[in-house]
Amino acid sequence: MGFVPTTTPIRDHSAELAKAEAAVEQFAATRNNRWYPKFHIASNGGWINDPNGLCYYRGRWHVYYQLHPYSTQWGPMHWGHVSSADMVTWRREPIAMAPSLEQERDGVFSGSAVIGDDSTLRFYYTGHRTLNGGDGPDRAKEVQMLATAQDNNAVHLTKQGMIVDCPSSKVDCDFRDPKVWKTDGTWYMTFGVSSAAKRGQMWLYTSHDMVEWAFDRVLFEHPDPDVFMLECPDFFPVTGPDGTEKWVIGFSAMGSKPHGFMNRNASNAGYMIGSWTPSEAFQPETEFRLWDCGHNFYAPQSFAAPDGRQLMYGWMSPFARTAPMQDDGWCGQLTLPREITLGADNDLHTAPAAEIAGLHADTTNLGPIDLTANEERVIADDAEAVEIELGLDLSHSTAERMGLKIHSTNDGSYIYVAYDDQLGRIVIDRQTAARGDRGYRAAPLSAAEIASGTVNLRIFVDRSSIEVYVNDGHQVLSSYSYPSEGPRAIELTSESGTAHIKAIKIHQLKGIGLE
Ligand code: FRU
Repeated sequence: MGFVPTTTPIRDHSAELAKAEAAVEQFAATRNNRWYPKFHIASNGGWINDPNGLCYYRGRWHVYYQLHPYSTQWGPMHWGHVSSADMVTWRREPIAMAPSLEQERDGVFSGSAVIGDDSTLRFYYTGHRTLNGGDGPDRAKEVQMLATAQDNNAVHLTKQGMIVDCPSSKVDCDFRDPKVWKTDGTWYMTFGVSSAAKRGQMWLYTSHDMVEWAFDRVLFEHPDPDVFMLECPDFFPVTGPDGTEKWVIGFSAMGSKPHGFMNRNASNAGYMIGSWTPSEAFQPETEFRLWDCGHNFYAPQSFAAPDGRQLMYGWMSPFARTAPMQDDGWCGQLTLPREITLGADNDLHTAPAAEIAGLHADTTNLGPIDLTANEERVIADDAEAVEIELGLDLSHSTAERMGLKIHSTNDGSYIYVAYDDQLGRIVIDRQTAARGDRGYRAAPLSAAEIASGTVNLRIFVDRSSIEVYVNDGHQVLSSYSYPSEGPRAIELTSESGTAHIKAIKIHQLKGIGLE
């Protein structure tokens, strides 16, 4: 007989799912929608974090996510689920997993989905157990688990059990977030590990039947000794415009210290580009770069779409103990889906997936606009859910900063998105935010981008978030913003100099059907 996963049921799974569903419903019944997203994926109520199990399966896109149904704070994790035929309009699905086995007693943690050789959709995820009250060297036990989809809509999952146990003496408890793929006929799994020496590592396992896995090697160890854990690792090939294949390693690093413009968030998600051959470790060829320079981006996961695109969703992490939306019965949303491409500049670009154009309801073309020095011009009286396409003409502007005040309300609060000519960066500044965490973030422009004389921005404004895509996703900034009551205006501004706006369009955006 072959390898058999270990399952030790301790609770009735259907009963746990029903209880969790009722708890989310209760939040939804009284939820305040002032900041609830119109076009971003969020739970009906409760807390969410990482995107999980991303896939396209039998005609639908599936997004699962870490969910705590019983509170708007993080807690014992479940998997929430939404699905879509077109990546534009989404449908809520029943909660997919609740902790019900001894191996995942305190949480069904993050994981990924992959279609197996037998066409079954498989979910690899982490089972979490808290030990000794969550304190000390033996504060938790984490193992890798397998579940399979029972139906074409991947709504009902069958838990198969534990497939990778944790060699506790080699690990400082953190051992989680598996990602599975196939190269040259072999199945590979990587996940994040905090080594016994508290170094952030990614381990590599191999399998031929997708059930029995053997340790292969340490795929990667983060060079920074402050980094003690790599959460939600990702690993996939990309092909550049000249046809060369590279491998991308992605991870959410815990422990890195801020320096300059880098690593300003509590933990920071980014990537390195390099090469990989099976039976070897990953060879990085670039430094660590952030996926997103905003205040609120973490734990992204990518997946290979059937048409060959590599698509990614991230979690807009509040990174603070309390976030204003928690008062409203919900907490956390995902970013828009982004397509990852390798540019001729040997850097990754993450532009919104092409499907996002399907959100456009109607478009106002405001044409080119010239602002005199220190001018402010209202371009929208009340923008609840819009995309702004903005072409900034750097060569014909003298402003120190030019950009947009967004979520600008009668009490004088707003969020500022601008090109800063002194920094040569795109900034998102929350100094004047009505509430919530403040601070600013700044995404770099390359010398070539500045020399081109133009910067193109796509700015997505939802009820409590702003996503700024710079030059087709060469940089992105995602940040929460919680406007005050009343109309939410958008104003163009120029500081201490003129601003020439080459082109500006405002698209009203439709809801995605989850409200
Ligand atoms: C990242 C993370 C993962 C873990 C999950 C638990 O945000 O900490 O490492 O699997 O969230 O909710």
